[in-house]
This record gives sequence, structure tokens and C-alpha cells, in this order.
Amino acid sequence: MIGISDLKLTVMKNAFHALERHYLPKHTDGVDGRYGFVPYKIDDFIELLAEAWLLQPSGERKFLDVGAGIGTKVLLADVLFNSNGIEIDPFYVDMAHRLGVKVDEQNALEYQGYSDYDFIYFFVPIKDHELEQKLEYHIHSSMRPGSYVAPISAALNWDDFEDMEKQKGWYKKCQRNKS
Ligand SMILES: C[S@@+](CC[C@H](N)C(=O)[O-])C[C@H]1O[C@@H](n2cnc3c(N)ncnc32)[C@H](O)[C@@H]1O
Repeated sequence: MIGISDLKLTVMKNAFHALERHYLPKHTDGVDGRYGFVPYKIDDFIELLAEAWLLQPSGERKFLDVGAGIGTKVLLADVLFNSNGIEIDPFYVDMAHRLGVKVDEQNALEYQGYSDYDFIYFFVPIKDHELEQKLEYHIHSSMRPGSYVAPISAALNWDDFEDMEKQKGWYKKCQRNKS
């Protein structure tokens, strides 16, 4: 039989999923090689959040969703972290603001604030493979040592970076190369 904790989690996950699905049919197509708002699975996202919490159990812990859409992941992350999102599409940014979520209108390819964050999460914002690679190189070179990234459905193989160390669903940027 399902336990009360599992039941509570199921209620919350389904409520969030319903919220995201509600907005999905209205505006899903991205332009200029982008994806529209295609939300990542809530279960897997919550697991990432829990892992992040355990990886860095103290300190300020700043969290960034790159390509945050309507901001539902930022809303969830904000329960545990000091969280923000960046998003290129003003329609989604406006929606996020209506939901009371911190999402800034920014092009992730040009964004200069990655080094401010302890945890950087993205779920494949850009459809065009080369542009998505460019974004991921930009994030890698901008993030500071000691910070983490969760590259979901990434265009690059983050294991190939000499200075990135896999820790559960996250990669930690090391001070020096791994070997
Ligand atoms: C696949 S959705 C992910 C939504 C959310 N982060 C999640 O995990 O559920 C990708 C989002 O990235 C946004 N995006 C695409 N290109 C972008 C760019 N260059 N800068 C910022 N956001 C971008 C899209 O508009 C879309 O909302």
C-alpha cells in the first residue's frame, strides 16, 4: 500500500504537472532554433534538487534554471535554494512574473551571470545542435570552480571535460583537471 509521504509527493507532482500542461498547448513552438516551453519531468527534477541539497548542505546555495520557461522549476527550486531563471521568450517571462517567479528576460548564449550560481540547471533549451553546444561551452567556461551543473539532454558529453567531476546527476567544476 502507498505510504502517506509518497501520496503527498504524488499530489504535489501531479499538481505541478497539471500547471505546466495547462500552458503547454498555447505556446510550445520555439523560433530561431529554440525549443518552446517543454517542461522537464517533475519527479526527476525533484530528485536533482534533493541531490543538490545533499551535495552542498550549507551556505547560500544559488540556483539558476537556464531557459526557465514559465518558471515552474524555479518555483520548486526556490523552496530549497535562492533561485532564479533566465528565459529568452518574453511571453514565458511574463507568465513567470504572473506566477510570482523570478525569471529574467535574457539570452542564455550571451548571459554573463553564470559565475554567481552554485547550481546551474538546464533542460536542452536550444534545438539547433551547434548552437546548443555553443551555449554549453559558454556555461562551462563561465561557471566558477566548486559550482555544479545539471546538463539534461545535453549536446556535449560533460564527462569529456577534464575539470568536471560527476556527482550523482550533477557535474562539479574542479579547481584543477581531474587527473
Ligand atoms: C525545454 S524548455 C525547459 C523548461 C524548463 N527549464 C524545464 O526544465 O521544465 C527550454 C526553454 O528554454 C528557452 N530558451 C531557448 N533558447 C534560449 C536562450 N537562448 N536563452 C534563454 N532561454 C532560451 C525556451 O524558450 C524554453 O522556454
